[in-house]
Amino acid sequence: MQPFLVELKMTKILIIGSTGQIGSELTMLLRSIYGASNVVAGFIESAKPQGELFESGPAAAVDITNAQQIADTVRKYRIDTVYNLAALLSAVAEDRPQLAWHIGLGGLFNVLEIAREMHCAVFTPSSIGAFGHNTPKINTPQDTIQRPQTMYGVTKVAGELLCDYYHKRFAVDTRSVRYPGIVSSLTAPGGGTTDYAVEIYHAAARGETFQSPLLAGTFLDMMYMPDALRATIELMEANPDRLIHRNAFNITAMSVDPETIKSAILKWLPEFKMEYCPNSALQAIADSWPDSMDDSCARLEWGWLPKYDLHAMTLEMLISLNAI
Ligand code: SER
Repeated sequence: MQPFLVELKMTKILIIGSTGQIGSELTMLLRSIYGASNVVAGFIESAKPQGELFESGPAAAVDITNAQQIADTVRKYRIDTVYNLAALLSAVAEDRPQLAWHIGLGGLFNVLEIAREMHCAVFTPSSIGAFGHNTPKINTPQDTIQRPQTMYGVTKVAGELLCDYYHKRFAVDTRSVRYPGIVSSLTAPGGGTTDYAVEIYHAAARGETFQSPLLAGTFLDMMYMPDALRATIELMEANPDRLIHRNAFNITAMSVDPETIKSAILKWLPEFKMEYCPNSALQAIADSWPDSMDDSCARLEWGWLPKYDLHAMTLEMLISLNAI
């Protein structure tokens, strides 16, 4: 049992997108908390679970765009909670906007309809990408203007609204956080604007010069994976009577730019070098996102508190990548 949970729900969980950056680690953590046989790893044929993820518990082919497949799996395993982690990240979504909508909104609609019929709770992540140019950039409030101009952002805002609608109209227990960029050492994110914050550590560990696609001064919220996983589970375990908000809570652990991360790495690897190799598409997306979110509602309503700041995260990343 994890120390951060005092009382546990009895639950049967389906994770859709269990082989992605967050899904792969969330599945293993949920299995360690709720029992391996109670956590089904949903996957698509092109991304089957491997190794420990496959061997440690049940797995089922669940394509989020296939409502029948979701319903069959929920029925078969008597699922009561769905963690919906299927999505295209921001840069890929800009390249393939139709597919991003199909997975992000069409898929979410499938999940919510099945949750309504079969009485499941649903977690679906939102993101810093749910904000846009006219949102206050510093200390971005919980409730504020949300007019993103990326397809990723459009799906996230629409998803937040749809989840709130299903909660109010049909009493589906929907909950969500606006994840910042998530830094982890196991599974690569793939196609996000914040991916550089993962890649920089890999480059440092390999002794390579990192080519930053984002410019100095591009501040974005970030979080180390253990905090992101804990936030997710703590929100799903939170007392619903205390939740004024639901979809979705701002959460953050740090606000950093490439130079800040470089400085943190230099403390351990003084030879580390970084140069700028700007990517205009990524820069445009990053420039439309907050510098730093205000997560006080999450702190107040369900006790959110990050444990890892930049330096603690850097130390663990470099150790797990065998760099120090
Ligand atoms: N990490 C995501 C991305 O960069 C943002 O939520 O697309």
